[in-house]
Amino acid sequence: MFEIVRAVAALRNEAESDQLGRIGRLVRFVRESGNYPPLRMVESQVNEPETVIEGRPYLMFGANNYLSLSEDEGVKAAAIRAIARYGIGPGGSRHMSGTVDIIVELERRLADLTGMEACMTLPTGYMANVGVIRSLTCEFLGRMPYSDRESVVLVDEYIHGSVSDGCDLAGVRTLRFNHNSLDDLRRRLEETQDYPNRVIVTEGVFCLEGEIVDIPAYAAVAREWDAKLLVDDAHAIGVLGPRGGGSADYHGCADGIDVVTGSLDKAFGGTGGYIAGSRTLIDYLWLTLRSNYLSSALPCGMAGAMLEVIDRVEVATDIRAELASKARWLRAALRAEGFTVLGTHDIPSVLLFIGNEEKGIAFADGLLESGIFCPLMRWPAVPPGRSRFRLSLMARHEQRHLEALVEACVTVGERLGIT
Ligand SMILES: Cc1ncc(COP(=O)(O)O)c(C=O)c1O
Repeated sequence: MFEIVRAVAALRNEAESDQLGRIGRLVRFVRESGNYPPLRMVESQVNEPETVIEGRPYLMFGANNYLSLSEDEGVKAAAIRAIARYGIGPGGSRHMSGTVDIIVELERRLADLTGMEACMTLPTGYMANVGVIRSLTCEFLGRMPYSDRESVVLVDEYIHGSVSDGCDLAGVRTLRFNHNSLDDLRRRLEETQDYPNRVIVTEGVFCLEGEIVDIPAYAAVAREWDAKLLVDDAHAIGVLGPRGGGSADYHGCADGIDVVTGSLDKAFGGTGGYIAGSRTLIDYLWLTLRSNYLSSALPCGMAGAMLEVIDRVEVATDIRAELASKARWLRAALRAEGFTVLGTHDIPSVLLFIGNEEKGIAFADGLLESGIFCPLMRWPAVPPGRSRFRLSLMARHEQRHLEALVEACVTVGERLGIT
């Protein structure tokens, strides 16, 4: 990885070769060195265990459609009904063209599911995170609610990039605490006692680590130090809790969380994001959230689909239990073959750890040759030298799919000397 960085630095001295100059040279270099992201063309069954990519059948282990709702006939029919009634788009920003009843109903259902008082949806989870940090930490009017210098954000070092981007955009002081370390978080809180507005941000599920985070412990620390707690539940919603309501539902700790954000493109199988919290917070976001008032709303067809999805999620107890048992089986099977598997919690992401990026790329190529589709997670998604496969499980994966995956991993692993 560092050799690549050195080689890229040398490019700066080459003569410009096209109109975009250094940009064009960088792209060509990355492509020629085999590091350009491979964008594969999926032709049908996008989120199904058996998919077709560039004319060839593959077993899909890269999609986060955990509950297999993306291709569900009832969900697709709900989307079509909503499109027939409302058209395909909301007509622009909700401040300009009015809000739509089906979106408001979805927000009511999401608030109820997440255990919060109120909710606001957005077209993506990225927009939720990137917008909410600024609203929570920056002054809006006359140094209210806080002057910019009164705020600090304390984020887990492995927090999703959308939160980091939100912090950068807000220009707010940001401190990283060691991954999932309450001790380090306490140290950071001690250092920042002079800030009246402190926001702690972590994730309900770190899907790249295979961890469910002890949110009640974070809530207790936030209360003790008079800080706010924001939980990104992108990989927890639909998966954790008796009703699939995410962290608050799983731990029974809705009271301790100030803000929950999440994504509708993982367990919910669609696309979209949300921010949930108190009524006052959501009223304030209607005033200040730039990713809401400067951008269009969630499409109405998606809102219709997501309402149907929530009906399914709330009663998907057996499906969640089956997913957990598939994850246990896969983790145990890979470990029995000598692989390193990260994490111990029953979430539908199984982390096959590789480490070195070159080996990871060779492993990914081997899996593709064996008919397994699962892109490698590597820097910058994870720290350099810690590449891994996030094997995402879906409700429709069958035992034979998992066995084929393990067999392919063993064959490729033996060839590359990785077990
Ligand atoms: C933890 C986390 N937060 C936020 C997001 C962004 O969500 P979306 O894909 O809906 O933009 C993701 C997506 O990868 C995520 O993994």
